[in-house]
Amino acid sequence: MRAEWHETRLLWASRPALFALLRTAALGGPVWRAPKLGWLVTDPVVARRVLNDPKHFTLLGEGGVGHLWAQVLGDYVYRIFDGPGHADLRARARDLFTDATARPLVRRVFTPALEPAVERLRAGGVVDVADLTRVLVGRMMADMLGLDLPADDERYREVFGTGEKLARLALGSAASTELPPDVIARAKAIIAGLTKNVPQAYAEASADTLLGRCRELGLSLEETSGLAALLMVAGTETAATAMTRILALLHDTGQQHLLRGESQLMYGVISEGLRVTTPAPVIGRSVSRDITVGRTRMRAGDRVLLLTHVANNRIGRFDITGPTYIPEIRQLWFGAGRHLCLGAALARAEIRHFLDAMLGNGPIQIVSRRPAKGVLIPSYAELRVTIG
Ligand code: HEM
Repeated sequence: MRAEWHETRLLWASRPALFALLRTAALGGPVWRAPKLGWLVTDPVVARRVLNDPKHFTLLGEGGVGHLWAQVLGDYVYRIFDGPGHADLRARARDLFTDATARPLVRRVFTPALEPAVERLRAGGVVDVADLTRVLVGRMMADMLGLDLPADDERYREVFGTGEKLARLALGSAASTELPPDVIARAKAIIAGLTKNVPQAYAEASADTLLGRCRELGLSLEETSGLAALLMVAGTETAATAMTRILALLHDTGQQHLLRGESQLMYGVISEGLRVTTPAPVIGRSVSRDITVGRTRMRAGDRVLLLTHVANNRIGRFDITGPTYIPEIRQLWFGAGRHLCLGAALARAEIRHFLDAMLGNGPIQIVSRRPAKGVLIPSYAELRVTIG
């Protein structure tokens, strides 16, 4: 109950409108129409059906994330983020993040910031893990974008903050994904700054970096630049909030104690943590051709919001001893179908590496916490822990 209370408070404080949407939708049926918003789907099987049906649903129309990013990144989004161009890009990017490549990447990128934090915990000190995960993800972004930055954490906080600023521009897109010209101009300026090193790194970087691997896999510079921008928005706040909130859930439910000497439970921790937190709580789509879903007739042009947070949490409370595979959900927290999260292996490796480091010296105690406000993805602004 305590864990649920903290998660609920976090959602409410971070994004009151999203909280209201999730709560209201949970009271309705599996699929129903909300004025101004479109179809709300809370049933996991229907959500998976929508995500697996590219003939009738697209993310390039009003309501979809592709529509949002095409205005900022350019029309090539229509070519490579859906349709045949997308299938071709996914086929070539399939090996970009695998479990085998993600683990050493995470170790290399995280160690300079994670080791001092673990040392501080060992010495009886307090670590703000919300800040730490922002630095870790900022480091991952900088590495992926080929940014050549000095070693101090502050630079990486800034990189994360810039990614956050970009994501914040998407706030308010629940009602429409059509962006006003001033927002487009601001987003373009942020992306230009963050991706300024991409062309050079694409040409010169070694094959053990993301940009070097894109080149080796045969992705063009245009595809690589688009992908780099997408990775930045897709893999920044989601990964940081997942790490912090899963650690908090393990503490608040007392289940961190079950993990001692039982490392095989870690797989369940990651999937349960992602199920309960569902860091991407809503997935948008646009109906491209009329279709009947169950008893519901959806028309071309309608918007559909898949409320995966509601669908995933219908299964029950956070329990790392439960089944790690739930057929109707599978891994809905990473989406499904052709747009299934490309960074899933990387996200899992990040969470695992972080939790192993944080819990490796004994159970943690949360000293204080504070939810973030005005962010796209509900998260903690501060979560201070010590070894307890
Ligand atoms: C816990 C962390 C994460 C969660 C919960 C998550 C969730 C998702 C979801 C739900 C989608 C599908 C969106 C849709 O269908 O419209 C998605 C797509 C995507 N994610 Fe993640 N993501 C996470 C981390 C990452 C990371 C670390 C990266 C890479 C650095 C990443 C890269 C992507 C990309 C590129 C796509 C678009 C794939 C496509 O359209 O083909 N994600 N993610």
